[in-house]
Amino acid sequence: MSGGKLLVRGARQAVLVCRAGERALRGEDMKSLASLEQDGDNGVSLVVGSNGLIEAVGHDADIQEKYGSTKFDRVIDAAGMSVLPGLIDGHTHPVWAGDRVHEFAMKLAGATYMEVHKAGGGINFTVEHTRSASEDELYALFRDRLLRMVRAGTTLVECKSGYGLEVETEMKMLRVIQRAKRELPIEISSTFCGAHSVPRGSTMEQATDDVINVQLPRLQELMKSGDLEVDNIDVFCEKGVFDVESTRRILQAGVDAGLAINFHGDELHPMKSAELGAELKARAISHLEEISDAGIKAMADSGSVAVILPTTAYILRLTPPPARKMIDSGVVVALGSDFNPNAFCLSMPMTMHLACVNFRMSMNEALAAATINAAASLGRAETHGSLEVGKVGDLVIIDAPRWEHLIYQLAGHDHLIKYVVKKGEVIHSAV
Ligand code: NIG
Ligand code: FE
Repeated sequence: MSGGKLLVRGARQAVLVCRAGERALRGEDMKSLASLEQDGDNGVSLVVGSNGLIEAVGHDADIQEKYGSTKFDRVIDAAGMSVLPGLIDGHTHPVWAGDRVHEFAMKLAGATYMEVHKAGGGINFTVEHTRSASEDELYALFRDRLLRMVRAGTTLVECKSGYGLEVETEMKMLRVIQRAKRELPIEISSTFCGAHSVPRGSTMEQATDDVINVQLPRLQELMKSGDLEVDNIDVFCEKGVFDVESTRRILQAGVDAGLAINFHGDELHPMKSAELGAELKARAISHLEEISDAGIKAMADSGSVAVILPTTAYILRLTPPPARKMIDSGVVVALGSDFNPNAFCLSMPMTMHLACVNFRMSMNEALAAATINAAASLGRAETHGSLEVGKVGDLVIIDAPRWEHLIYQLAGHDHLIKYVVKKGEVIHSAV
């Protein structure tokens, strides 16, 4: 054996999540995840090769026999600890300036999200601050947030633009995301969300035309020149924001520009967004608090991933999405923190906790949703989301005999997470 990047050995448990290269887990398959347990004194080892990919997972004795004289750049003694895949956050809005703590107070006093939005607050408040912030200011804020996500175990995150609503600021946000891709160890799937809100002074029709005829063409130029790599197209399909027909036009234009559909739907009102997304073969649809039964069936058939967002439903006191019905009907369900100025949560462990308590998911279902299914929502399930040979060596190692402590110890991830590993490199260590 030639040299390797990382050997983790002696663990009490490694949660592999998938058994045989599944690209998503549905229904019953989310309930019992593949894992390897310590057997007597024989703990669990995992090897990441010099290419950053997982080369072997097995019991210590077998790995020792196979890799006896191999030199590793790093060896982690994980005695008593549990190893799980790096967490994947399927939905965030992390590039913005200003905060909305005052709106939190308004909402606690009884204002709804849409009341705040219509009064000029909400997204359009953040748009003003984001437009006037410099690229460096935005990057500094974004960097700090991403590093906090890493410390909470996230190794791959979806990041949206959407606080510009005009071409210059939207491209500024996407450049900030691109810079983080180059400079930071966390991996990013980036999303163009120029249709996040109708900007002040515009109609929905004007905003739709601007996204399609001004913003998307500029984005395409910048993608062609190699300045930007953007993966997904997003629209906030909601009553009083973008209706189904505008949403359809924008999503179709995004597909024509080479982007995958990953959009907000059926959050505050039933819009038949799930039906639209399934028809357009969306890769993912987020929120879905108000999804219809027909929408559930359509998504189960199309395989579009439902990215559900427990922090938003919690903060806005929304009726939760019918997560049980979706899972039991065979929809691929994933989780996202929905980090944004309304829902300020950077932690997938907290998100999983809320999914269990408020959406009635089991802990295994929450972990499947925050790993392999979130990878599927970003089109990366072939390479991410489980501890299987050939996948990227993205790991979280926690100081607990079973991985479930990460959910059970509410808001306890600071104490539990000892290492976060990206492609075999330790990118956060608390030892
Ligand atoms: O996913 N619902 C639309 N977008 C965000 C909220 C963005 C904001 O309020 O700034 C969400 O919750
Ligand atoms: Fe969102």
